[in-house]
Amino acid sequence: MGSTFVSPRAVGAPGIPYYTPINNPGAAIDPGPHTPTLFQPLKIRNFTLKNRIIVAPMCMASSEADPESDDVGTLTDFHIAHLGHFATKCVGLVMIEATAVQPNGRISSNDSGLWQGTNSSQFRALRRVADIVHSQGAKLGIQLAHAGRKGRVVTPWVGGRGAVKAYKSAWGWPDDVIAPSCGEEFKWSPGETSYWAPRDLSVAEIAEVVAAFARRASTAVDAGVDVIEVHGAHGYLLRQFLSPITNRRDDKYGGSFENRCRIVRGVTTAVRAEIGSEVPLFLRISGTEWLEGNSVAAENGTWDLLLSMKLARLLPEFGVDLVDVSSGGNHHEQSIQPHGNYQVDLAGEIRKAVRAAGQKTFVGAVGLIRDPEAARDIVQGTNDETNSTGEPNGDVVLIAREFLREPNWVFLAAKKLDVKVSLTWQFGRGLL
Ligand SMILES: Cc1cc2nc3c(=O)[nH]c(=O)nc-3n(C[C@H](O)[C@H](O)[C@H](O)COP(=O)(O)O)c2cc1C
Repeated sequence: MGSTFVSPRAVGAPGIPYYTPINNPGAAIDPGPHTPTLFQPLKIRNFTLKNRIIVAPMCMASSEADPESDDVGTLTDFHIAHLGHFATKCVGLVMIEATAVQPNGRISSNDSGLWQGTNSSQFRALRRVADIVHSQGAKLGIQLAHAGRKGRVVTPWVGGRGAVKAYKSAWGWPDDVIAPSCGEEFKWSPGETSYWAPRDLSVAEIAEVVAAFARRASTAVDAGVDVIEVHGAHGYLLRQFLSPITNRRDDKYGGSFENRCRIVRGVTTAVRAEIGSEVPLFLRISGTEWLEGNSVAAENGTWDLLLSMKLARLLPEFGVDLVDVSSGGNHHEQSIQPHGNYQVDLAGEIRKAVRAAGQKTFVGAVGLIRDPEAARDIVQGTNDETNSTGEPNGDVVLIAREFLREPNWVFLAAKKLDVKVSLTWQFGRGLL
């Protein structure tokens, strides 16, 4: 009847190249002092997370593997569906899986990569992922990585359970699997079939790795990525340098703690210089390599929680805003006993260490987080027997497997914790 009224719902989300209503699912409606910290915003530099819940990076091994293809390493429509759907389901920040900054930095043949610039399908696909995530009012992170000596095993669903090394005929690079130190001793796991023995990097090649991280952080930001995470955990290249078990170099990148940290310092400061002062930078570390008491550690030393605390206290100098505390993955004799808080406790200890030093570096807790109440207590602190100091164990939680089981976890958590949150307009009728 000629009405000119335009519903706010009909106004498209700004900056998105297709119509979708403005959405911000997972933001607390009318937050107040009683809103659990889990649903309170967190400001990091020029960026506000609407809640404290992050989808942890998860390799999907779902990119083109053929090195002759223009699309090698490129994210696909699968990633738009997979990562975008978490954004529609109330998550604050979605982290893209370990993404290799050099072609030989992939773990398996179909892993994602970002070693090309802004005129590439890698860039264009990343921008599409950024659009879908932003269209839901969520933020997008990318985990930049180099697999080092864990590089180039066959994709799990091709090679079967357990790692199978990729020959040249399977698009592998047997001669270019790299590490701080070379030879059979430095394979990730013993045995003939699973991993290649690495060659060691020259100092000039280390500089190239550092430059590749910095360049691709900048490319990611140009594509619309809001947060850069550097992968320094799980026995991948940067982690291999940190640990005396895998780094036996006698140049400026090996030996002392400072020397072993040099590549991480180089990468994070170079990334910071490229992305400027507004973009948050996260660093994922392994809080310990779970070798305490092991004979390999007795002989060579190890990377334990104390060294992680020492590194964490250096992070303001390194340009890092948040340390994401995982563990393990650097030696096959690691002794991990996963239980409720096994990794969250590491995060808590590191957080205490940085706060005791008067620093504000944020801490991410990850590992076996399933219950909304547990997630709430991690970022809020408790007074019960699970946490004697009552201090929070982290400032954010990162969740992986529970999101694969229950993508709607954030909404269900809000309901359980009695928090009213905004919903994606299109799904509202199903969720009220
Ligand atoms: C399918 C899958 C892929 C993963 N890929 C990565 C990855 O790319 N980078 C990374 O740092 N961790 C990766 N992880 C580890 C998770 O980020 C997370 O730290 C771990 O699963 C523990 O959290 P959870 O108990 O919530 O699953 C992966 C985990 C899963 C289940």
